[in-house]
Amino acid sequence: MEEKAKTSLKIENLTKNYNKTTAVKNLSLSLEGKDIFGFIGPNGAGKTTTIKCIAGLLSHQSGVISINGKDSKLFGDLSKKRIGYVPDTPFLYDKLTGREFLYFVGRIYGMKEADIEKEIEFYSKQMEFSDYMDSRTEEYSHGMKQRIVIASAFIHNPDILLVDEPMVGLDPKSSRIVKDLFKEGAKENRILFISTHTLSLAEELCTKIGIMDKGSLVYFGSISELKDKIKKENLEDIFLEITSKNE
Ligand SMILES: Nc1ncnc2c1ncn2[C@@H]1O[C@H](COP(=O)(O)OP(=O)(O)O)[C@@H](O)[C@H]1O
Ligand SMILES: [Mg+2]
Repeated sequence: MEEKAKTSLKIENLTKNYNKTTAVKNLSLSLEGKDIFGFIGPNGAGKTTTIKCIAGLLSHQSGVISINGKDSKLFGDLSKKRIGYVPDTPFLYDKLTGREFLYFVGRIYGMKEADIEKEIEFYSKQMEFSDYMDSRTEEYSHGMKQRIVIASAFIHNPDILLVDEPMVGLDPKSSRIVKDLFKEGAKENRILFISTHTLSLAEELCTKIGIMDKGSLVYFGSISELKDKIKKENLEDIFLEITSKNE
């Protein structure tokens, strides 16, 4: 079997402006395969903007985003195939069933039918979804919709999975299933980049965290290093301490 090198994502001095608003200022961070990165910060801190820049959906004014050592601007669509993206407001086609939706996404990524079927089989079990696979997504609850959207971002086996706010409004069962999906989805050649408000999720799942405040990355590292540094035990206390300093 082909051995794949460890995936890397390096962001150097990323700056993104929308007209007069600077949404992201000089952001630098570096991640590698198997990292589950929790990107946290208050509303408007610049998380979604950063994720869209990495996904190639927004162009940035300055800085470099490198994936596996190569500037992502030079990659074109090929690099997009290596990325999975779950936006903060996911989109589903109401009239497609879960199976049809996964099929549709797999085909967009150029996957072979047999491979799509294998993945659908795997994820419908993993997501405890088998009973709903052939119902139209318009009949799904919020948690079920979110589960199928997240599975659809895994289906082409991406190197980098970008997930924007996956936990908003999830019931406990869906939340557990999504967390397990992330834990099991961490691999040598995959980076999980998860933006979240849910600090308990970051604490439970993430090997590294980044705290954004007003467009700047004010902390990057492990949660345990951060707790040592701030001398507080609770991530919520630390978060509030760090993000209120510039008020
Ligand atoms: N399309 C846009 N046009 C103008 N300003 C925007 C746009 N999207 C986001 N912003 C601004 O950029 C900043 C960062 O927003 P965003 O990246 O959505 O933050 P977060 O995801 O952390 O809540 C905010 O001040 C927001 O108002
Ligand atoms: Mg956002």
